[in-house]
Parts: sequence; structure tokens; C-alpha cells
Amino acid sequence: MNIAIIGGTGLLGSNLVALYKSKKLDVKAFSRSVAGNIDPTYNQITNFENLEFELNTAFVSWKPDIIINAIALVNLSECENRKEYCHKTNVKIAETLAIIAKKQHSYYIHISTDHYYKDNKEKHTETDPIILLNYYSTTKREAEEKVLHLYKDSLVVRTNIIGFRKSKTFSFFEWLHNALEKEIEINLFYDFYTSVISVKELGVLLLKCYDNRLFGIYNIASSEVVDKYSFGMQVAKKFKLSNNLITKSSFDDFQREDNLKRASNLGLDVSKIEKALNLHMPSIDKTISTLLNEYKESLNSEKRD
Ligand SMILES: NC(=O)c1ccc[n+]([C@@H]2O[C@H](COP(=O)([O-])OP(=O)(O)OC[C@H]3O[C@@H](n4cnc5c(N)ncnc54)[C@H](OP(=O)(O)O)[C@@H]3O)[C@@H](O)[C@H]2O)c1
Repeated sequence: MNIAIIGGTGLLGSNLVALYKSKKLDVKAFSRSVAGNIDPTYNQITNFENLEFELNTAFVSWKPDIIINAIALVNLSECENRKEYCHKTNVKIAETLAIIAKKQHSYYIHISTDHYYKDNKEKHTETDPIILLNYYSTTKREAEEKVLHLYKDSLVVRTNIIGFRKSKTFSFFEWLHNALEKEIEINLFYDFYTSVISVKELGVLLLKCYDNRLFGIYNIASSEVVDKYSFGMQVAKKFKLSNNLITKSSFDDFQREDNLKRASNLGLDVSKIEKALNLHMPSIDKTISTLLNEYKESLNSEKRD
């Protein structure tokens, strides 16, 4: 099976390439840059100004069964400050990929977000009302609509991912783990909630979605909702690290002094995907165990090298 990952250098893209490679699938990434977290033999440098031509040319001799869009501008401040660039990245590229996927008869997976909720509800279904508090979420919602309009046989995934980016900038989990390991004081919000899933687990579930040809919007996330503080405490326990320097802090207090409005109750209801795939989504404990196993494996492979 041929899988094209568009944007192979980010948290999601680099992990999907490594995962599918380990499953002996024929995976190729199409990225704008070279990075240390992706084997260059699997990463084709692509001119995104000419994306349709570049990919349609590449897909003449190598037809992807699945195309996954792992590209986005995720930095909320940057999205506000560079609106045109953010729109081009989060909407235009998503639209172009939908057009290409339709032409190639490929299964198109567009990764969206959970950054849509600031209410008192714990878990949100795919049809619950959403609120667009900033330009990031505005572009992510626009992309969802445009993708499904252009190519209705697409899968739009609302999620919250966690894992190791192994790149210039730390992912949230790498930042947390580094602080715990080096005993650096950190603040974690007790009033910011997510249903975080490990990127590796998400990667496995995306293949199941393809097997079942699921189309439309699906929440794919943990079966549980957790606040950032409790998550940090659970990580410390599982990784056998001290939690003494984790300070419980308030997201609402932080928001009062911040001009950028953010969603904060991002919990997702996963009953639709559980029913469609006839399986249970991972718990938060399982998500952290997956991260621990990944961490141990990378330590072992460093020792071997
Ligand atoms: N991380 C989270 O917590 C989270 C939560 C919910 C949803 N998501 C969604 O998950 C998806 C993947 O996010 P991520 O965390 O993996 O992001 P990431 O680590 O920041 O990676 C972003 C990727 O997009 C590429 N990219 C950005 N702008 C581009 C442009 N203008 N042209 C071409 N490539 C561009 C980057 O390339 P370079 O390396 O060259 O910059 C990189 O490969 C996104 O759709 C995001 O909205 C993420």
C-alpha cells in the first residue's frame, strides 16, 4: 500500500513516516524542508508554490492509496500575525490536496483540530456547536468545509496529538518530559482540558479508517478527558520522575492577561469512531504508556548506535 504524507517534518508527519515504514508500507513524504527527524530517502523536497503540478507529476509513477495532510501553521500567535500566510498554509494547501486526491482516486485524510470549544461540556461530538476564537481555529474550520465540499470521500480528523517531534523545537510532551527529568519548575493548567492521543496510536487508527473507508468528520482521540496538570502528574508517576516542581496554575488567569483568545475545553466524544471501527479508543493511561514505551525504545536504539 502506498501512503503519501504531505509535510513529513512535523510532529505528526515525522511519526507517521516512521510508523508506516516500520510496518513495511510504501510511504513517501512530500515536504518543503529537510529535517533531522525524517530519513531523507523517504522525504521528497517539494515546491509548495507549485503543489498541484509537483504532486500530480510524482503520482504518475507512484500512485498513493492514501494521502495524509500533516501540514499546518499551529502557532496561534503566528496565525494572528501572519493571516495571509496562515490561510495559505491551513486552507489553500488542504484544498489543493483534496483536488489532487480526487483526481488520483486516493483516500484523503485531512487532519483538523479540537480547538473549537470553550464551554462547560466535558466531551464534544462532531455535531456540537463550535466557537472560533482565533484565526487558527477559523482557518481549520474553513479547511474542513472546503475539503469535504471539494471531495466528499475525504476523512476529516478532529484530534489532539502528543509525541516526540525530535526536531529543533520541543513538542509539548518533550518540553514536559525535559522539565521533569532536569527538575525544572513548570506551571500546568488545571482548567485546560484535552483528550490527547499519542501520534503513533493515531497513525494505526488512520489505517483502520482507510480499511473501513470512513468519510466525513470523525473525532479520533483518547476516550478520556484530562486537564494539563493531572496529565503532567500522571506522566511523572509513569516515568518515575519527581512531580515536586509542577505547579498547579489557572488557564483562566493566564487568559485574562493575554490578548489572544483560546479554546480551553477541548474534550472530544469518540463514540462515533468507536462504533464505526468497533473498538475502544485508548485511555489517558494507555496514551502515557505508549509514550513511555516509545521513550524506552529510543533510548535502546541510541545505545545500539
Ligand atoms: N500538535 C498538536 O497538539 C495538535 C493538536 C490538534 C491538531 N493538530 C493538527 O495536527 C496536524 C499536524 O500538526 P503538528 O503538531 O504535527 O504540526 P508541526 O509539528 O508544527 O508540523 C507542521 C508541518 O507543516 C509543515 N508546514 C508548515 N507550514 C507550511 C507551509 N506553508 N508549506 C509547507 N509546509 C508547511 C512543516 O514544515 P517545516 O518543518 O518545514 O516547517 C511541518 O512539516 C495539523 O493539522 C494540526 O492542526 C495538532
